[in-house]
Amino acid sequence: MWKGRFSQATADLVQQYGESVSYDWRLYKHDIAGSIAHARAQLKAGLLTDEEFSSIESGLREIEKDIDAGKFEFSIELEDIHMNIEAELTKRIGAAGGKLHTARSRNDQVATDTRLYCREEIDTISKLIEDLQKALLGKAEEYADSVIPGYTHLQRGQPVTVGHHLLAYVEMLSRDTGRLADARKRVNVSPLGSGALAGSTINLDRQQIADELGFDRVTTNSMDAISDRDYIIELLSAFALVGTHLSRLSEDLILWCSSEFGFATLSDAHTTGSSLMPQKKNPDVCEITRGKTGRLYGNLVSLLTAAKGLPLTYNRDLQEDKEPLFDSIDTLKIALAVNAEMITDMVVNVDHCRAAASDPLLLATDLADYLVKEGVPFRSAHELVGQAVAVSVETKTPLDQLDLTKVSEHYGATAKDVFNLETALKARTNPGAPSIENVRSEIARWNSILG
Ligand code: ARG
Repeated sequence: MWKGRFSQATADLVQQYGESVSYDWRLYKHDIAGSIAHARAQLKAGLLTDEEFSSIESGLREIEKDIDAGKFEFSIELEDIHMNIEAELTKRIGAAGGKLHTARSRNDQVATDTRLYCREEIDTISKLIEDLQKALLGKAEEYADSVIPGYTHLQRGQPVTVGHHLLAYVEMLSRDTGRLADARKRVNVSPLGSGALAGSTINLDRQQIADELGFDRVTTNSMDAISDRDYIIELLSAFALVGTHLSRLSEDLILWCSSEFGFATLSDAHTTGSSLMPQKKNPDVCEITRGKTGRLYGNLVSLLTAAKGLPLTYNRDLQEDKEPLFDSIDTLKIALAVNAEMITDMVVNVDHCRAAASDPLLLATDLADYLVKEGVPFRSAHELVGQAVAVSVETKTPLDQLDLTKVSEHYGATAKDVFNLETALKARTNPGAPSIENVRSEIARWNSILG
C-alpha cells in the first residue's frame, strides 16, 4: 500500500509483529458499512461516477458475503482488516477500488469501525444485563418473603428477605446499563472525514456519512477524533464494574451453596464434580466469573496504560486497543448469559435460610429501638442491649429467653415481642427497607421497568 517510498519489503517478523487482521477481522461488517457510506459521499462530491460507486458497493457486498461464509483469505502482509478489504476490492473491480481511499485514512477509518462495533456490542450487552436482571427478579419474586440473615463483615447482622437480597443485584446491574447508555452517547459520534489527523483538502459531506451510519453527530476536532480512545476506556471501565457486580454475586452464591451456609442449591447443569472426590458439587461457574473479573480489570488497565504517554495524534500503540476490547466483550457476554441461566435454575433452601435468620441476636438492634421508643437515648439503649447480649452469650441463654427485666428496669413486659421475625420485617417500611410489602412493590416496579 505504501510501496512508492520504500525499496525493501517489510521484514517477515515485522509483519508478524504488527499485523492485526488475525483479530480485527471481526470489524469487517463495520468497515464495509463505513466504506460504502464514504463512497456515497465521494459520489455526491463528483469524485466517483455512478458506475464506479455501484461497482464499489457491490464489490464490497460480495466481499462481505465471502467473509460471512468463511471464504475470504486474510493476509497478514496486508496488516489489518481495512487493507485486506481494500486490496481485495481493487483486485475484484479494478481502478475504481483505488479511488475509495480518497479523503480517508486508516486512522479515521479504524476509529469509525471501532465506534460502530462498540455501539452494536453496547446494545447486545445491555440486553444480556437485562436478561440477568430478569432472572434475578424472577427469583426475587419466588422468594420475596423468605427470610434470610443479612450480613456485615460476613457476621450475621439483621434479617432481610431473599427477595430483598437479590434485588440489590438488580439495582447494581441497572446502574451498569445506565453507564453503558451514557457511554453510548460518546461512542455514537462519527470521526470519518478527520483523515490521518488534519482532515483533507477534499471535503466530503461528513454529516451525510454520519447519517448513513446512524451516528448522532460528527466529531469536531480532527486531531482528537483520530487519537481518542476514551470511548473504549469508558466501556472497559463500565465492563469492569459489571464484572465487580457479577463477582460479588458469585461470592454470595459460593457462600450460599457451601454446607456451612446451605442457603441455596445450584442445578447439576450449572455445577461441576470432582475427578477425585465423588461427593463434590462445585460452584465453578461462580468461581470462573469471579476469576474472569480479573481479566476485565486487566483489559481496562492495559488500555489506560497504552494511552497515557502518547503524543497527539495517532501512534501505532493505539492498535493495542482492540484485543482488550474484544476480550472484555467476549468475556462479559458469556458470563452474563451463563449467570442468567444459573440463577434461573437456582433453588433457595428456605428452611435453612429461615433457621439462620431465626437467631434472636439478629434482632438485638430492634431491641435497642424498642428501648428508644421507651424514651432511652440510643447510645444508652445500645449499651443496655450489649450487656444483655453479653449475659446471653455467657449464660448460653438465647437472647429471647433471657429475663430482660432483670437486666434493666427499662425493659417492659412487651420487650419480648421484639423477637418475632414477621413483625420485625413488617416494621421496616421506609423506602428501600426490606418489609415484605416493600419488596413486593419493588418487584412490581422492576417488572414494569424490565417488561
Ligand atoms: N490497524 C490499525 C489500528 O488498529 C489501523 C490504523 C493504522 N494506521 C496507521 N497509521 N498505521 O490502529
